[in-house]
Amino acid sequence: MSSDDAKDASTSRSRQHSIRDLAAMKEQGERFAMLTAYDHPTAAVLDAAGIPVILVGDSVGDNVLGYDSTVPVTVEEMIHHSRAVKRGAPHAVVVADLPFGSYQISVEDGLRAGVRLLKEGGANAVKAEGAGHVVELAQRSVEMGMPFMGHLGLTPQSVNQLGYRVQGRDEGSAEQLLADARALEAAGAFAVVLEAVPSDLAGRVTAALSIPTIGIGAGPQCDGQVLVLHDLLGLSTRPAPRFAKAYTDLRSQMLDAVKAFQSEVADGEFPDADHSY
Ligand code: KIV
Repeated sequence: MSSDDAKDASTSRSRQHSIRDLAAMKEQGERFAMLTAYDHPTAAVLDAAGIPVILVGDSVGDNVLGYDSTVPVTVEEMIHHSRAVKRGAPHAVVVADLPFGSYQISVEDGLRAGVRLLKEGGANAVKAEGAGHVVELAQRSVEMGMPFMGHLGLTPQSVNQLGYRVQGRDEGSAEQLLADARALEAAGAFAVVLEAVPSDLAGRVTAALSIPTIGIGAGPQCDGQVLVLHDLLGLSTRPAPRFAKAYTDLRSQMLDAVKAFQSEVADGEFPDADHSY
């Protein structure tokens, strides 16, 4: 790569992204990647790589905070992690999840929690799971200037009701999911995550909507793909779902590094002269 090429690449990586870019990418048939992040250093890596959308997922609960699901995550925790991510990723669109309990009881609750995620958490948009009254939440969020991302299919916040199962397998539930996706689009959502749904159904939804679909376990026909960063890095402490691809084994690398330090300390090799004053 020439130095000019390198400069071009670094410029394009650090450009500012917006939700309008995603619509344009769909129009041009350009696929995009979204990843989760929960802290400053990993958000900075994603931003440097030019990831256009970063999701501060409530998966922070089972990936970082040691909960056994996303259900216990609070609005306060989401604000705390969103802040760190936005500081590390000034160029990406940062989407923060509305956690369980913050919008299921009323639309007003959801609007208030969303406002906090934007004002205090620095997020650029919010995401919530499901349809029903969430469609009204989407519409009112957008009306007040709060961009909204939908999430259909497997909705982890409903684990106690639905379990972690592929959704939309029969014609009735597939039609319902398609109708829900259309309703979210009509309400003004700028994108919809499709989690753990058959590839054909994700393809039908993607073709039916003018807003981008972002798949996770939803096959190759979606406009974008999202993974939980800890699954991609091989850093998860829980068994990864089948759809999650580990691109590296960071847990082993970390373990090796920690063991090397421990052994050098035990042997008196660390600190050596280079690391002492
Ligand atoms: O919280 C999360 O990580 C998510 C993804 C699974 C899309 O919602």
